[in-house]
Amino acid sequence: MKPTRRTFIKGIAAGSALLATESIARPFSIIPNLARQSPNDKIRIATIGMGIQGHYDTKAALRSTPGTELVAVADLYDGRLKQAREVFGKNLFASRDYREVLARPDVDAVLIVTSDHWHDHITKDALKAGKHVYCEKPMVHRIDEGLSVIDAWKKSGKTMQVGSQRISSASFKEAKRLLEAGEIGEINYIESNNDRFNAIGAWNYSIPPDASPSTVDFDRFLGDAPKVPFDAKRFFRWRNYRDYGTGVAGDLFVHLITGAHFVTSSLGPERIFSSGGLSYWKDGRDVPDVLVSVLEYPKTSTHANFQMVLRVNFANAGSITNNTRIIGTEGQIEFTENNLLLTKRKLPIAPGYGNYDSFFTFPEEVQKEFVKQYDVQYPPDTRKAAPVKEVRFEAPKEDDAHANHFKDFFENIQKGSVGTIEDPVFGFRAAAPVLACNESYFDKKVVYWDPVAMKKKKK
Ligand SMILES: NC(=O)c1ccc[n+]([C@@H]2O[C@H](COP(=O)([O-])OP(=O)(O)OC[C@H]3O[C@@H](n4cnc5c(N)ncnc54)[C@H](O)[C@@H]3O)[C@@H](O)[C@H]2O)c1
Repeated sequence: MKPTRRTFIKGIAAGSALLATESIARPFSIIPNLARQSPNDKIRIATIGMGIQGHYDTKAALRSTPGTELVAVADLYDGRLKQAREVFGKNLFASRDYREVLARPDVDAVLIVTSDHWHDHITKDALKAGKHVYCEKPMVHRIDEGLSVIDAWKKSGKTMQVGSQRISSASFKEAKRLLEAGEIGEINYIESNNDRFNAIGAWNYSIPPDASPSTVDFDRFLGDAPKVPFDAKRFFRWRNYRDYGTGVAGDLFVHLITGAHFVTSSLGPERIFSSGGLSYWKDGRDVPDVLVSVLEYPKTSTHANFQMVLRVNFANAGSITNNTRIIGTEGQIEFTENNLLLTKRKLPIAPGYGNYDSFFTFPEEVQKEFVKQYDVQYPPDTRKAAPVKEVRFEAPKEDDAHANHFKDFFENIQKGSVGTIEDPVFGFRAAAPVLACNESYFDKKVVYWDPVAMKKKKK
């Protein structure tokens, strides 16, 4: 959505924990969260957007921290307001207008779980209203919305968490630990996929039979997107349209890149290129169902330069293995939210000779001389590779990444800390490159990004 207020900050939002590792010495100030709550205080939440993820988020929030209470919800489909009361109690305050929720003094924190094109607006309104914010991924719908959200957060003194909860899983934490311990040497490549092969996975969610202009506040849904007549598909399957969603990159790459940034402590890529197309789901959507992007990461104080390849294929009729593979000079870490496999594999010092090699093409005399020299240069101990070692990690059964992510949010509220494991600086550093993946695909160009300043650049 177009920002209503262009308040781009000149400096860098240095509130992220990640920035502690940066070499930029830039002064910054974040207003401390003075209205801290004690761990015994009940945190009262409201959910704005009571659709599919609104339910998952609300339940994860409630189970994460004892004493958390849901007091209000907002949604634009009356059926969801009614259903929220059926599930969470008939005393729940429920409104079509999220501003009524923000105006309530009994709401401490809001969960923003709407279609992507509302994230920035509601986040800024909520922070201004003095609420702590948990905003779903991607943090913004467009790159030019990011810095103003960060600015609003910094000015608010409120805690903010972005919702790509997988980084709060035991498996992702283990991947980070192993990488930082040097288990795979210098990183050179990451690949991460999120493929699907079913209609619901391809975002064709069920549409309720009572959907109509009287049960759905369609005009409010459109916000500042182009005005179009009521269309239930646009409302209930908003991901299929760029006006409200962010395509497979914003929806799914964002989880992949968030995981990669968390594990590598990277600030982001410098060059982004995508290729893709609409292969199977030719149902009126204006976003691709197959997308491959290459993101080039520069060397930093925490990692070597590396390439990252992200892929989504919604028409993957083959086998689907959605995982992340981080490859280094001495092995690889392959992981999902639930498990991880570390493979340590190091080359011997001696290069070897023979087989499919030029050695046999030399005349006999030269071969003899070659072997003589080789034996001097590479004594036996340089010829053996260390045995390949595999180490498996299974996340404990009780590991609950979603609840952990909310726990981090609530604990920071209670501590009076504005930052979280996925604060807006981290959130934008993940969102912007994936939005750039879309830009590259639609405009058929390479996008250049400054991951430190969080701005697009010419080259
Ligand atoms: N973290 C995750 O793993 C994860 C998973 C799924 C979805 N999500 C994110 O959650 C968000 C919602 O996705 P969903 O699948 O629940 O969509 P959904 O369509 O099921 O629900 C979205 C709801 O938002 C409501 N809404 C839209 N604009 C609103 C406004 N201005 N005021 C009040 N309500 C409004 C709609 O009425 C709708 O019910 C998206 O940003 C998506 O990217 C995150």
